[in-house]
Amino acid sequence: MIVLDQENKIFTLHTQNTTYQMKVDQYHVLEHIYYGARIDNRDLSGLIKCGERSFSPNPDEAGRNRDYSLDVMPQEYSTCGVGDFRLPSIELELPGGSHTADLRYEGFHLEKGKYKLVGLPGFHGMENEAETLVVLLKDSAARIAVEMYYGVFEDFDLITRAIRLVNEGTETIRVCRCASLCLDFTRSDLDLITFNGHHLMERCLDRGPVRPGIQSVGSVRGISSHQHNPFVMICDHDADEDRGMCYGAMLLYSGSFEAAVECSQYENSRLVMGIHPYHFCWTLEPAGTFTAPETAMVCSPDGFGQMSRQYHKAIRKHLLRDPYQYERKPVLVNNWEATYFDFDADKLVDIAREAADLGIELFVMDDGWFGSRNDDNSGLGDWQVNREKLPGGLEALVPCVKDLGMKFGIWMEPEMVNEDSDLYRAHPDWILRVPGRAPSRGRGQLVLDFSRKDVRDHIYDQMKAVLDSADISYIKWDMNRSLTDVWSAGLPAGRQGEVYHRYVLGVYDLLERLHCDYPYILIEGCCGGGGRFDGGMLYYTPQIWCSDDTDAIDRLRIQYGTSFCYPVCTMGAHVSAVPNEQNGRFTPLETRGITAMSGAFGYEMDLGKCTEEEKRKIRCQVETYKKHYNLIHDGDYYRLSSPFQDSSYTAWEQVSAGQKEALVNVVMGCTHSAPPFRTLRLKGLNPSFQYQVDGIGETYSGGELMKSGYPLPQIRGDYPAFQIYLKAVG
Ligand code: GLA
Repeated sequence: MIVLDQENKIFTLHTQNTTYQMKVDQYHVLEHIYYGARIDNRDLSGLIKCGERSFSPNPDEAGRNRDYSLDVMPQEYSTCGVGDFRLPSIELELPGGSHTADLRYEGFHLEKGKYKLVGLPGFHGMENEAETLVVLLKDSAARIAVEMYYGVFEDFDLITRAIRLVNEGTETIRVCRCASLCLDFTRSDLDLITFNGHHLMERCLDRGPVRPGIQSVGSVRGISSHQHNPFVMICDHDADEDRGMCYGAMLLYSGSFEAAVECSQYENSRLVMGIHPYHFCWTLEPAGTFTAPETAMVCSPDGFGQMSRQYHKAIRKHLLRDPYQYERKPVLVNNWEATYFDFDADKLVDIAREAADLGIELFVMDDGWFGSRNDDNSGLGDWQVNREKLPGGLEALVPCVKDLGMKFGIWMEPEMVNEDSDLYRAHPDWILRVPGRAPSRGRGQLVLDFSRKDVRDHIYDQMKAVLDSADISYIKWDMNRSLTDVWSAGLPAGRQGEVYHRYVLGVYDLLERLHCDYPYILIEGCCGGGGRFDGGMLYYTPQIWCSDDTDAIDRLRIQYGTSFCYPVCTMGAHVSAVPNEQNGRFTPLETRGITAMSGAFGYEMDLGKCTEEEKRKIRCQVETYKKHYNLIHDGDYYRLSSPFQDSSYTAWEQVSAGQKEALVNVVMGCTHSAPPFRTLRLKGLNPSFQYQVDGIGETYSGGELMKSGYPLPQIRGDYPAFQIYLKAVG
């Protein structure tokens, strides 16, 4: 609910459990007043105190009032060069050469439903689902208007923000920084939580106190990256899963980004998040506009679990798009780890046949089916079937797979090219490269200049020919290197600072075209595993391959970290063979199944090599997944332990709406002789319901299971796992 107090110029955004307030002050600066637990119908500006602070300048309007300084006031969108020395949200290079920005309130308006951004991903909401407030700030000297969009999704405690700049002057201005989010706190006794890692180990949680000065994470790789995720949290020092104030900030962007927190001299904190300023400079001609990507904030006064559950529900309903918000996605088998590049049509059909027999519904043909692609040094860019491997082409292969009762999916890496390809030989100037400098390779490949429409059109035409040649239900859209040598032949020297961002806009453009032309094709995002796992991609690709690491034990950490923001239905997760391809570990098949099942489930192994007993188990896993699909994907998700804190077991739980059903998942660590007896305290159940344990028949009250806990069985061997399905009875 948006509440306006026009007389006092106060804007209050209420969600079910939270309140966000801003107020225009006596000098027309938009101050950030409050964000936290819901407080109804109050002017909270008394919370903001100011007094004279040496070396903090006073704006001209303040005259002799030395108590007022932008340097210490909490602001809604911080400026630069005119008195606030903390993290800026906006930096402009004005025609005279100065780097300043100064913003004052001009007005507001309301819009029905959730605002939409042109060419960028965003949450969506109809009139009865979301509200929009637009607050207008202006820099009268620069003649720049800053439109600040707020989307309020009350039921989800979700507030989205986006920024649009308009050059209202007659001269060209350069935008050197335009953050998507600025969030000021009048305290600094806070922790910062970030999700970090590398290829094969993404989104590991790191937590530490906000310290004096600036701390930041980000990416200058042109992708959101394996190294840091564009989702961060700020919380009370003692906040945990069930208690304490926490704030999530998610940037819906798939390119270079920065999330920085500054704890300033008077122990205030500021979080600024947006496109990374490295090599970013956008030329804004008169009447030109620039839109910064969206951010989505969820505040939870009751700990991390509640915040995550709100994100999960909001992402499912308002970020993913029809038909993949709630429709059950097929269980898939992918041939990559089974064959790598070494396959032919018979081999693929064999895998598909085995899979169909086990209840698997979609066969995905991974890398190696096109051009001269027999290893990873050639073929990218030539999206035509390799007739040596697949003599009958897709026209012959796809019907064979479909005759088995399966859908067919295909791997593509549209943004890339190998030098050994017809595309590169014909268009060597279509890549990102700096004149006079030989470009760096990554995985032996170069990056196509997706900021250029002609390049994108050519790739799209090739993709369309493939998609129209057979009945294809799924695309794995891969992207296997970071961007370097970022320079485009399509832009003049003075506009090269736009290429990183235009590249991302180009990727979104192509994905949107695919979505419009083939709305029923399920696209799974991938970037060497989870190198581009972000809210921007999720708008176009409702599931993303979580990591190239398929080891179930490593996956516990990766999926745990990912779950803080992103719902399980978005996390591509597969059962693979043992010893694991990435780390050589042996884990039981049950453990691999249970871990992958809390994701967009599939298999990635040569099923023909499985024993009859293994096949029986796989059939059973697939049945269990299908049976509990709604509970796993629509249920409330509870983390019961952290793999970063306790390696003896990792547990998580899904609880249905109405609390009638729950699925508890437990993966034990390395075995020890005579281990201690443990109980696991469950969450989210109804204390007065009686729950029966499936397969055992024992009955416990919800209160008992949450207070004293469920006794964990002792199983021999390393990394055993089990699921407990609970159903309310009586
Ligand atoms: C990336 C993906 C893998 C696989 C290979 C194929 O590494 O993450 O799943 O598709 O590419 O080359």
